[in-house]
Amino acid sequence: MGIPLRRSPSAGHGADPVLVVEDLHKSFGKAASRKDVLRGLSLTIPAGSILALLGANGAGKTTLVNILSTLMLPSTGSASVDGHDVVRDARTVRELISLTGQFAAVDAELTGRENLIYFARLRGLTSTAARSRADELLAQFRLTEAARQLVASYSGGMRRRLDIAASLIVTPRLLFLDEPTTGLDPLSRRELWEMVEELRDAGVAILLTTQYLDEAERLADTIVLLRGGRSVLEGSPVQIRTQFGTQVCRLELDSPAEAARARTDVLPAALGIAPGSFTIEGLGASFPAARGADDLTAALDALREAGITVNSAQLSAPSLDDIFLELAFENADTATPGTADAP
Ligand SMILES: Nc1ncnc2c1ncn2[C@@H]1O[C@H](COP(=O)(O)OP(=O)(O)OP(=O)(O)O)[C@@H](O)[C@H]1O
Ligand SMILES: [Mg+2]
Repeated sequence: MGIPLRRSPSAGHGADPVLVVEDLHKSFGKAASRKDVLRGLSLTIPAGSILALLGANGAGKTTLVNILSTLMLPSTGSASVDGHDVVRDARTVRELISLTGQFAAVDAELTGRENLIYFARLRGLTSTAARSRADELLAQFRLTEAARQLVASYSGGMRRRLDIAASLIVTPRLLFLDEPTTGLDPLSRRELWEMVEELRDAGVAILLTTQYLDEAERLADTIVLLRGGRSVLEGSPVQIRTQFGTQVCRLELDSPAEAARARTDVLPAALGIAPGSFTIEGLGASFPAARGADDLTAALDALREAGITVNSAQLSAPSLDDIFLELAFENADTATPGTADAP
């Protein structure tokens, strides 16, 4: 999907942060019914960088997006876009940002084209410019054929694409995408990812919320996992995996008997791992390889010496899914209590 964009001179890492969030708090309700949704969140996004915000349902992702996009006031703390405070300079901030919300903002009673023209006029484009921008976006989002149909007749994915197109009338400094690919088919998802990457390459700072780890892993420079109103995990996908996950080594041997012998007689001694850490399934033997490739090589050497044939060997990275399942939910062992210490 080609998006004609100006390349921002400040694109890339190490650039000044576009978004700065400092110690942000947000509570809803009062006294006994008070709910602390954000409890001291800080983060930054430089130009040309994507931050993926992950968290279980109700973790506060949309609340954060609403505050940063000036739709909601924070309780305390601050946030700024290019140095403009989201509360005091809300009007300026609105000119610098675009938002694709979790729920569609387009009007079902208008056609796709009418919607885009409407949003373009809101952005201050002349009527001629608005029509030509609408047509460009319709083409980019594969909606030209449906341009003159009422949005009420669109499929969920078409509506989603139109919604995202509407937020890209002008290229923002900071783009919010709240669960942008929920409900998209695999092709549309991939197209959206490519579009997001193009925007990033053009210097746009992007805050993306998602439930999909493959999406975060593919797109994000930084992942932030929100739980109990705070960031409980932050880093690049690679950092998170190396910090939290142990790789798994899988070997396939010639017979179940050899697999059993590998477990009892050969590998525990060679690797210094307890026999109980090995999983034997048919011809396969797998074990946690804390030292990665070194463990794999040591295992292969020991098995060769013991005369056990190895038919295949594989070292796989831990999945982010495993890490997040462990950390994203309130009842996880290391949980920071969500609202437990609220007054
Ligand atoms: N206006 C509001 N008044 C009261 N409570 C609210 C309001 N908006 C959000 N909340 C509460 O704040 C919490 C966080 O909601 P939020 O929509 O930010 O979660 P989320 O991380 O976006 O979840 P999801 O993945 O389901 O979209 C929820 O418990 C929600 O009920
Ligand atoms: Mg949400």
